[in-house]
Amino acid sequence: MPSADVEELSMVQLDPVRDGEEVIEFYRSLSRQSIKSRFMCMMSDVEGCVRSLLASRPIIYGVRRGGELIAVGEAYGKGGVYEIALVVKDKHQGRGIGKMLVGFMLSDLFNNRGATRVYAYMSIDNIRMVRISRYYGGRIMTDGDTYKVVFDPVNLRLRRN
Ligand SMILES: CC(C)(COP(=O)(O)OP(=O)(O)OC[C@H]1O[C@@H](n2cnc3c(N)ncnc32)[C@H](O)[C@@H]1OP(=O)(O)O)[C@@H](O)C(=O)NCCC(=O)NCCS
Repeated sequence: MPSADVEELSMVQLDPVRDGEEVIEFYRSLSRQSIKSRFMCMMSDVEGCVRSLLASRPIIYGVRRGGELIAVGEAYGKGGVYEIALVVKDKHQGRGIGKMLVGFMLSDLFNNRGATRVYAYMSIDNIRMVRISRYYGGRIMTDGDTYKVVFDPVNLRLRRN
């Protein structure tokens, strides 16, 4: 699949209250497979789950193409430690958007929000997420039947802004 034309894309931060309905609509548009990979389980009530995630007021990152929201990532943090998760709309996957979004999230968390550690979970067959994690210098470890990737200032590979 061809790479996304980066000039058409904008990285944005979304507000859980102001933009909440748009984020829910985005999640509703995803395939069951993408939902499963994002949440690491089959989910019957996606809307209810996303509403409760939004209620915890995560930092939300988005990628827009024109007016359309095509990828969403969240960071859930406490005391400088953040868990991140993200998903790209099905028809836009495999075009470099996830890689860009993770870079945007890690830059913001480490450079602007005082993160000391950022981690994410993925299933062991999530090749794209494993490659992205390695690209940014994440340390990948097995956690039961999943992988956990940990980014810290020592292993992180980012361009400083
Ligand atoms: C995982 C996900 C976020 C990755 O985003 P993406 O935009 O699809 O992935 P990218 O196009 O940025 O590709 C990332 C890497 O995987 C590689 N890749 C892409 N498609 C691939 C394929 N079919 N097979 C092997 N490698 C592939 C890319 O080449 C890139 O590696 P590189 O930079 O070393 O070349 C996205 O696929 C997604 O939303 N999946 C469902 C939800 C999910 O799994 N979320 C992660 C858990 S929180």
